[in-house]
Amino acid sequence: MSDVYLNGRFMPMEQALVPVMDRGFIFGDGVYEVIPVYDRIPLALERHLDRLTNSLKGVRIPNPLTRTDWKMLIQQLIAREPEAVQSVYLHVTRGVAARDHAFPKDTVPTVFAMSKPMAPPPAEWLQQGVNAITHDDFRWLKCHLKTTALLANVLLRQMAVEAGAVECLLIRDGYLTEGAASNVLVVVDGILLAPPRNHLLLPGITYDLVLEIAAKHNIPFEERPVSESELRRASEIMMTSSTREIVPITVLDGRAVGSGVPGPIGKKLLSLYQKLKHP
Ligand code: PDD
Repeated sequence: MSDVYLNGRFMPMEQALVPVMDRGFIFGDGVYEVIPVYDRIPLALERHLDRLTNSLKGVRIPNPLTRTDWKMLIQQLIAREPEAVQSVYLHVTRGVAARDHAFPKDTVPTVFAMSKPMAPPPAEWLQQGVNAITHDDFRWLKCHLKTTALLANVLLRQMAVEAGAVECLLIRDGYLTEGAASNVLVVVDGILLAPPRNHLLLPGITYDLVLEIAAKHNIPFEERPVSESELRRASEIMMTSSTREIVPITVLDGRAVGSGVPGPIGKKLLSLYQKLKHP
């Protein structure tokens, strides 16, 4: 593992220690980003940094670095990692302070960052698709912020794992929101449907890129609420994320999605997405 970054210094992971009173540890009081890197070039870097800025603003943690400093840090992390395909992880907490729910005064945010090799999704996932389950979305109402307080997502993803599935798709008030750690798009009556970007889901960068690809290549799509019944009669379902790209979901709650194999729209989107990685 290459050195990680903590509060201004690079060091071996074992030496990167945070005081127990860090509010990230005590309250999950922090935000994070995950940025995919191909051929040592971060994909959609500005958008990831925009989202980080927005997450920080949303939880009222002052941005500890300028955009130039973030970029420099990311370049250093990428240069230190021997593999060319990586995922950069950035993490900012409100800092170390005596335990009190309300914000401490004059606390310096903790900044942690690392990069590690990123494996592509397994070939059989792309050839056969994966299993997913559904569950009530019991998360809070600020899911557009990428916060480190992921307990609900952790519980939901674990349910999927225990059901032999790869992802848990979340339903709130009869509508699809996203996955426990991914966005979800579906194809209904030949149209790619994407749940709208609002406070109920993370504005995924991969989701963004996929919709831009659809627009550019005349794949009909709509960004609008997707009901549970549409999800269940979809001919294709796919999950998107920076680390897993676009993965077809071919079994939902034990029932085949469409004909039970990855569908043409998902395949087309994936092959076009691959081109963004190696332009
Ligand atoms: N998660 N929704 C949730 C809840 C997520 O956690 C993620 C990604 C996404 C997809 O966003 P993007 O396309 O920007 O990666 C949507 C990252 C990869 C993670 O937590 O590791």
